[in-house]
Amino acid sequence: MEEYLHAFDDILRSSINTLAFTGAGVSWESGIPTFRGSGGIWEQYPPSMYGNLPGLAVVFVLRGKKLAGFAAEVVSTLVEASPNPCHSALARMEEEDMLKGIITQNVDDLHSLAGSKKVLELHGNAYRLKCSRCRSTRKMERERLVEVAQRLKQPGVKRRDLLGALRHYASRCSECGGRTRPDVVFFGESLPPGAMDESVLLASECELLLVLGTTSVVYPAALVPRVAMDAGARIVEINPQPTNLTPLADLSIPYPAGDFFATYMKMAGWE
Ligand code: OAD
Repeated sequence: MEEYLHAFDDILRSSINTLAFTGAGVSWESGIPTFRGSGGIWEQYPPSMYGNLPGLAVVFVLRGKKLAGFAAEVVSTLVEASPNPCHSALARMEEEDMLKGIITQNVDDLHSLAGSKKVLELHGNAYRLKCSRCRSTRKMERERLVEVAQRLKQPGVKRRDLLGALRHYASRCSECGGRTRPDVVFFGESLPPGAMDESVLLASECELLLVLGTTSVVYPAALVPRVAMDAGARIVEINPQPTNLTPLADLSIPYPAGDFFATYMKMAGWE
């Protein structure tokens, strides 16, 4: 890893406008599975049914128990996760003025929990609720999601438990009384207003883009590295598996991001 650490440090310190673009892989070492590949979420729960609202409605009617199990798994995994050294290093880099911000596809809130301030969430945030009527959003306390996880984790959880948990999670909007829902983007839905525009603008201006733990195959989010490259930015990828971006990257680091940044933080004296 040694040569990668030095190469990374050189590139990072020579850039005055660095951004990070992150995906599920950066949270893997926090205990959250990725979407694709072996052991990924979509392997057990196909996105054609579990990745979109109409599909989820069908699963609710036909396989309520399985959906309750899926929800229990997702919610428990989220609330049990805490930031790993990749999240911490990015927060520290921002503090040191070495990173302008993070564009993330993750909904797990771990970048903010680690202390990062400028985080653009392209696919929403599981700890935020959105009113389906007036579109207002509000942050939800972590404790409430912990309670939801506990309800769903009961042995023999059924469809009606799922409904109860959903009501507990997504209560009525305090502004207009409309129904609220998790502010996360399902397949076929639009991205939060403004987030993509701002991401594209930042990507087009950055000098260096760190592409961390993502396959970069889901659009429009995957436009971010494309826009940065087209505008002449250097690309550093950290991912133990090659992606379609690997041959185009200026530096490709084939290690788990948490592992790599744990060593990098030691080297930088940030511990
Ligand atoms: P994927 O599951 O497609 O890809 C995860 C990537 O992380 C893979 O390239 C892995 O090799 C890599 N990886 C795994 N462990 C890693 C580690 N410890 N360090 C670094 N890299 C690691 O996840 P995303 O690219 O984030 O969208 O997926 C993008 C979108 O697809 C998600 O936001 C989600 C999904 O459908 C929606 O739900 C709208």
